[in-house]
Amino acid sequence: MHTRMKRAVAAALLLLLTACSEPVPENSMDGIYTAQQAERGAPLFTDLCQRCHSMQEFTGRTFDAIWNGVPAAALYTRIANTMPLDQPGSLSVAQVSNLMAHILSENGNPAGDTPLEGDLDYLMTITLARQSE
Ligand code: HEC
Repeated sequence: MHTRMKRAVAAALLLLLTACSEPVPENSMDGIYTAQQAERGAPLFTDLCQRCHSMQEFTGRTFDAIWNGVPAAALYTRIANTMPLDQPGSLSVAQVSNLMAHILSENGNPAGDTPLEGDLDYLMTITLARQSE
């Protein structure tokens, strides 16, 4: 191959690599919610969930037993479709997202720049995980 051609190929490859190097989140440790969402989720949890739940039910070993390794969409739909138990389906997308951000934050998942939204196709591709102690 001519040197010029080689250079062009190398440049194209480099471009491709740079385009791909933007990290695509794979699990909930990759910053899938914002700090602001988690902050908003904390009082929501107190108001809407605490009369039946403690945060311990959604963190640590209990989180491992139920949610670790599961697509994030499962937790999202569980909250959105079935909670609060006596008012299922009453939560807005923002409320569910903020509650989920709060739960993830309590499990040591770091916040990121991209807000969590109710995009189930996307959330199906994200696996729930947590910071091990
Ligand atoms: C009136 C009581 C009540 C309220 C309020 C309530 N829940 Fe629940 N929730 C339950 C019960 C009971 C279960 C377990 C029974 C079941 O499977 O439906 C449950 C199960 C769950 C589960 C699945 C099991 C687990 O431990 O992960 C999640 C997640 C959950 N609730 C989240 C929430 C969130 C978030 C809120 C606040 C928006 C909330 N719940 C409000 C009663 C309640």
